[in-house]
Amino acid sequence: MAIRPILIIPDARLRAVADPIVEVDEEIKTLAKDMLDTMYDAPGIGLAAPQIGVMKRIVVMDLAAEGETPTPLVMINPEITKFGDEIQVTEEGCLSIPELYYEVERPSTVTVKYTDLDGKEVTKDADGKLAVCIQHELDHLDGVLYIDYLSRLKRDRVIKKFDKQAKLAAR
Ligand code: NI
Repeated sequence: MAIRPILIIPDARLRAVADPIVEVDEEIKTLAKDMLDTMYDAPGIGLAAPQIGVMKRIVVMDLAAEGETPTPLVMINPEITKFGDEIQVTEEGCLSIPELYYEVERPSTVTVKYTDLDGKEVTKDADGKLAVCIQHELDHLDGVLYIDYLSRLKRDRVIKKFDKQAKLAAR
């Protein structure tokens, strides 16, 4: 079990685009396991590799409630192939923007295509919380954060708060 440190904004790696994974080898399997360990430890329901400073296109999720059997999901090179027409509003948070939660509008259904840990191609339809989580985590692979969907006023307030904290910590 290896828990890796989670990057916090304004770390520049959270704004970079991650690279596709060429082969699902032992290194990727270890990375996926570390990501799950890190996510469960946080605790969180989703984590993308850039959040631990690894610029690769892989995300992990688990939406099982506390006390339920864990249902870990690992998506390699994930891509949303279809967005539904309906919109849902959900309160989101992010391990890289700790202790804050804001409502975000997103399509309520998505179809996602990805490679699993066995190297197999999977296509999955998702709705509800899973659809939100998939969109949130996949955004991380392109350097997009959920606060980017907030009003400029709210987003700037969040960014300022963490810029200030980073400056204080660097002193
Ligand atoms: Ni996040």
